[in-house]
Amino acid sequence: MSDFSGRTALITGGARGQGRAHAVALAERGADVVLVDRCADSAAVPYPLATAADLAETEALVTATGRRCLALRADVGNPDEITRAVADAVEAFGGIDIAVANAGVSVTAPLGELVGEKWDEVIATNLTGVFHTIAAVSGGMAERGYGRIIAVSSMMGRSAAPGMAAYSASKWGVIGIAKSAALELAQTGVTVNVVAPGNISTPMVLNDALYSLMRPDLENPGLEDVEPVLATLHAQPVALLQPEEVTRAVLFFADEGSNHITGTVLPIDAGAAARVSA
Ligand SMILES: NC(=O)c1ccc[n+]([C@@H]2O[C@H](COP(=O)([O-])OP(=O)(O)OC[C@H]3O[C@@H](n4cnc5c(N)ncnc54)[C@H](O)[C@@H]3O)[C@@H](O)[C@H]2O)c1
Repeated sequence: MSDFSGRTALITGGARGQGRAHAVALAERGADVVLVDRCADSAAVPYPLATAADLAETEALVTATGRRCLALRADVGNPDEITRAVADAVEAFGGIDIAVANAGVSVTAPLGELVGEKWDEVIATNLTGVFHTIAAVSGGMAERGYGRIIAVSSMMGRSAAPGMAAYSASKWGVIGIAKSAALELAQTGVTVNVVAPGNISTPMVLNDALYSLMRPDLENPGLEDVEPVLATLHAQPVALLQPEEVTRAVLFFADEGSNHITGTVLPIDAGAAARVSA
């Protein structure tokens, strides 16, 4: 098992979902944890985002492992907020060794309806937010000669689907940012890699707005109605993967021993990537 004792890990979107799973797993393996989450809904996003209570719950789960936790509210789409959060984290813990740029939103709409706040929100959080996060942590990591950056893309980051122009563009873009950063930081001891999840069992998928979108033929569709549709997006016969399956990949990239793995993309998507990329 990896040992992250003495390391500090910052996770954006850490209040719940995949971010929470990564935070707890890193803490269980010895890391102190900085959680960054906006903890506020967005008018452009059709499902609730995390709350302050979610953030407090993740903080409690981290501290229950015996590790320290700093829980911060910040919007990754706002450069001042994420830069301040990183500065607060550095002041509290002395530096950041591992950063998981995980915060994200999902908005599905036809092209004409995406114009305006929906497009702006998805790009601000999923694309610009990942850029801001990497930009904010990478200088300190390079100075200290060590860092592990993991950016969260999606199976939609190497494929496409109707209604997904903003989300897909943002997730393709995450890969471009990460690969550029990997090259830029290659001389510094800092690695940058990407995880590309399939359908993961989190509130981003487990919500009525997504169910209705996937089953417009039903009045009040539930999870059991959309599971067959979700399964078609994967190659293996499974509708949803667990957050901890993505965590395994995050831990792999975060490990000190992964020092010569950089600029790569690892799908955790039940075979979906086999359809679209080498
Ligand atoms: N769930 C899936 O099926 C799936 C699939 C592929 C990729 N992803 C990606 O995984 C990542 C984690 O998503 P999840 O599945 O845990 O969903 P989630 O909705 O449970 O978690 C996302 C978290 O990000 C936070 N957040 C949103 N916008 C933010 C902002 N601007 N600033 C700070 N925090 C913000 C939310 O409050 C929430 O806590 C996202 O980048 C998402 O796009 C999810």
